[in-house]
Amino acid sequence: MEFLIILGIPMLVLALGAGVVLVSQVTGFMQQGSFSQRENFSNNLIQQYVMQIAVAQTAVGQRSQELEILTSKLVLSNQELGRLNEMKSKFMSMVVHDVRTPLASIRGFSELLLKRSTGEKEAQYLKNIVGSTDQLGHLIADLTDLAMIEAGKLKMEKAVFDFSLVATDILPAMTINAQKKGVDLVVNPLPEGLMVNGDRFRLSQVLMNLLNNAIKFTPPGKRVELTLRAEPRGAGAYVKDAGIGIHRSETSLIFEKFYQAKFQKDEKLRKQGWGLGLSIAGEIVRAHNGIIKATSPGLGKGATFFFRIPLNS
Ligand SMILES: Nc1ncnc2c1ncn2[C@@H]1O[C@H](COP(=O)(O)OP(=O)(O)OP(=O)(O)O)[C@@H](O)[C@H]1O
Ligand SMILES: [Mg+2]
Repeated sequence: MEFLIILGIPMLVLALGAGVVLVSQVTGFMQQGSFSQRENFSNNLIQQYVMQIAVAQTAVGQRSQELEILTSKLVLSNQELGRLNEMKSKFMSMVVHDVRTPLASIRGFSELLLKRSTGEKEAQYLKNIVGSTDQLGHLIADLTDLAMIEAGKLKMEKAVFDFSLVATDILPAMTINAQKKGVDLVVNPLPEGLMVNGDRFRLSQVLMNLLNNAIKFTPPGKRVELTLRAEPRGAGAYVKDAGIGIHRSETSLIFEKFYQAKFQKDEKLRKQGWGLGLSIAGEIVRAHNGIIKATSPGLGKGATFFFRIPLNS
């Protein structure tokens, strides 16, 4: 429709322009010639004028036909795109499902062998296998979440619970991770009796993603600080680190799926992940009507990640 208007306006201007020229010619002649001469002359001009309008109309007609063809092609390719996207999601959830079972078996048997093993080297190899299966397990879990999000099936199981539990549920595992990396994990006193209505498991998952990132992107010997607190009509969690920081142009982009900051030059850190954690965290927080954000004074200057949810989300 807009296209038709855009197309129609120049045509109209053309026709009107021709009209103005004609009118000025007519007025000039009218002042000089006899009555019948003047009548013939003006009839000719009007005929020309009508012909030009007819040509313009045909051109508009042709263009609008072309536009209709283009629109129907666009509708078809949109439908095709939707179908392909659906196929991709189905394929992803099938693969994820089929990988999970053998992975659990590899991990289980490796742990069994680890318990029985006597050789030091053998034990180390088995620990490596367990570690790698855990890594793969995380990826599979993230891909499962992603598939569910894309299919609109990631459901929150909400209940009223003490917000501090999102931290206490995961702190034992996070403390071990921080120790392994040599990062100093400081937990500020947790608020008492701050009740929220939300999915405890999923909100812990959000905090775990933020803490794991903070530990990963902070060099040994530096500090990561966790604060949970009451906010006006809500509950907030803050993870502040003294790590590699984020360029200001990327503090929002990193929440997109598969996005990893390009200004950070550490290839080794990048390869430790897939760029999925924050996008999943974002979906979970949004499902609680909350907000999630990253701030950083710049590269090399650390970063703070926080999320806030309303008490009754
Ligand atoms: N605390 C942080 N300090 C600096 N950069 C960060 C921090 N947290 C996230 N980022 C940047 O945001 C990107 C996206 O984070 P996200 O958690 O989504 O993915 P990832 O950690 O790379 O991989 P995954 O979480 O899938 O294992 C990271 O690759 C990194 O570039
Ligand atoms: Mg991550």
